[in-house]
Amino acid sequence: MNEQLLEKIDKLKKQREAVILAHNYQPGEIQDLADFTGDSLGLSIKAAETDAKVIVFCGVQFMAETAAILSPEKTVLLPDKNAGCPLADMITAEQLKDLKQKHPDALVVCYVNSSAEVKAESDYCCTSANAVEIVNSLPEDRPVIFVPDQHLGRFAADRTGRDLILWPGYCHVHVVITEEDIKNKKAKYPDAIVMTHPECTEPVKELSDQLLSTGQMLKFAQKSTAKRFIIATETGMIHALKKCRPDAEFIPASEKAVCPNMKLVTLEKILWSLEDMQYEITLPQEITTKARNALDRMVQILPTR
Ligand code: 13P
Ligand code: SF4
Repeated sequence: MNEQLLEKIDKLKKQREAVILAHNYQPGEIQDLADFTGDSLGLSIKAAETDAKVIVFCGVQFMAETAAILSPEKTVLLPDKNAGCPLADMITAEQLKDLKQKHPDALVVCYVNSSAEVKAESDYCCTSANAVEIVNSLPEDRPVIFVPDQHLGRFAADRTGRDLILWPGYCHVHVVITEEDIKNKKAKYPDAIVMTHPECTEPVKELSDQLLSTGQMLKFAQKSTAKRFIIATETGMIHALKKCRPDAEFIPASEKAVCPNMKLVTLEKILWSLEDMQYEITLPQEITTKARNALDRMVQILPTR
């Protein structure tokens, strides 16, 4: 059954001159079918570079919007229109405008996990891979607002020594991973390296060996000689890691860390998406132009890892 579906997708992909991009949290079969897999930063760069006419974005809304802003001449499709990101929805453009009024001298850095409207109100965008570099690049005499993820914000504040104005947003998938989960897994696998996403809570991060974006986890695992890793992020990451280090063991810190929105994409929905050219991401021109400035600054400042 899958074989037939895969053949149909491949045929239609060629006809449409489409490319399939998938985030590292996508179901394993979607990661395997994609032309490119990666973290938010890697996928943004791919979306900006590709010659394809159509991008099928297997991820969540803000990622597909980012691709559409960076590649306005391409058609960007999201196979399931309900694939949102609750973290991105934790701040609206109106709320950010109010915050800016309270801190009129501040520069605004928004995590890429935000709506296009919030990006349009921001000076810089960042991902978990380059948040530290972006904050470090800002003039020291200016206050900095960081939205919407408080945990990534604290990580960036910690690494840069800057006092950031934070918004109380969080990812419900990452905050599910507890200190106890890490302690229990470390007791069971004392030789394992703990790799943790910066969206996790501070006590979890304190117990970890490496704080990395999903793309950085893959790079780290590839270079490491360790044979066992505890992974504190969304469980889709285990598939991606096993593919790059088949000889190593990857243990999820918590089986509960599953992003339901990331799992909405299926092979059938990718086929329908290509057949019906749905669901196309369209944004008002004014928002695209303003959000693009913040995104362009992000793509220019690369992470040092
Ligand atoms: P990465 O940019 O590290 O892939 O993370 C994206 C995300 O949504 C984390 O929850
Ligand atoms: Fe959003 Fe969290 Fe899902 Fe990432 S894992 S897409 S931040 S809800």
